[in-house]
Amino acid sequence: MAEKQIILTGDRPTGRLHLGHYVGSLKRRVELQNSGMFDEINIMIADDQALTDNADNPRKIRDNIINVMLDYLSVGIDPSKTTICVQSALPALHALTFYYLNLVTTARLSRNPTVKAEIQMRGFADEGLPAGFFCYPVSQAADITAFNANVVPVGEDQLPMIEQAREIVEKFNNVYGETLVLPKAMIPENEMQRRLPGVDGKAKMSKSLGNCIYLSDDAKTVKKQVNGKMFTDPLHLKIEDPGHIEGNVVFTYLDALCTDGHFAEYLPDYANLEEMKAHYRRGGLGDGTCKKFLINVMEEMLRPIRAERAKWEADIGSVYDILREGTAKAVETTNETLARVRKAMRIDYFADRSIEKEWEALLKQAKQ
Ligand code: TRP
Repeated sequence: MAEKQIILTGDRPTGRLHLGHYVGSLKRRVELQNSGMFDEINIMIADDQALTDNADNPRKIRDNIINVMLDYLSVGIDPSKTTICVQSALPALHALTFYYLNLVTTARLSRNPTVKAEIQMRGFADEGLPAGFFCYPVSQAADITAFNANVVPVGEDQLPMIEQAREIVEKFNNVYGETLVLPKAMIPENEMQRRLPGVDGKAKMSKSLGNCIYLSDDAKTVKKQVNGKMFTDPLHLKIEDPGHIEGNVVFTYLDALCTDGHFAEYLPDYANLEEMKAHYRRGGLGDGTCKKFLINVMEEMLRPIRAERAKWEADIGSVYDILREGTAKAVETTNETLARVRKAMRIDYFADRSIEKEWEALLKQAKQ
């Protein structure tokens, strides 16, 4: 029998989701969901993981649970096809994490490049590193394996987590016998979509830098971010000046977002992005025109998302029920995996009375 195709992916609920999330993963998830190629699709709101660096601010996490749900539903995640659940309500994940921690060395955890970068960014290098944060890749391995996921669609920065999960799976299966499914990462094909920079050109969109375009932003806010903050080419002072494409955020976004169809509709002077870029390089194409085109491209994408969000906002009761029902289903799936793991580890003492029988046999033997 062919291996079941099972997806798990997730997000930390630390804020509203933005365009970077959309092009880097949400759009892809909807395509995968609608491809009919998967037996099961699961999306997890990773609130426990979010708490590993927000332990002093659980309110922030709580406030973003419904926010992230609204983002999911408004981009087209369909609860009849995709199970959406919340991590903290799945106790099996905590147990699995505890067992997996024994299969990983602290030296190996210290080498994780994404965690290293996050430690720097959050100032943990000076303040002291919470052990929970240091170990979150292990908890992520628990997430992935608990759902028996073989496909994990994520951004590029998550590759070290999947690698770590694979090592844990291999180690577990080696020590305790074939039990866990080996996962594979799936990252976006379009390189520009893998890491959309903030509007200011900084590496990543981040709330604290104020350089995001949120899926829930209104048209006015989007326009303000692009016209007011988007980094272009500081050497392109006059329209006639030759312009640079590299590092020019307007073009980075166009690379990630626009199609030839957008040109036909909004900027028929050019057949495609290559023609537009050539003109910009040559000189004679102003930033204003480029930004206006980008805004049109983004609005075409954001408009239906906003409309869908408004519908769900008018019915938060349903949003809540979708999460509650998805989580109830996930409780069952993850509990089944935990039972299998405990059996493999021979710590399933109460699954049957075999430990009693083993003892009786031992005692009988001793008397002979
Ligand atoms: N670490 C992921 C992120 O920061 C979120 C996440 C938690 C996740 N658990 C997961 C992603 C399991 C994929 C699979 O984006």
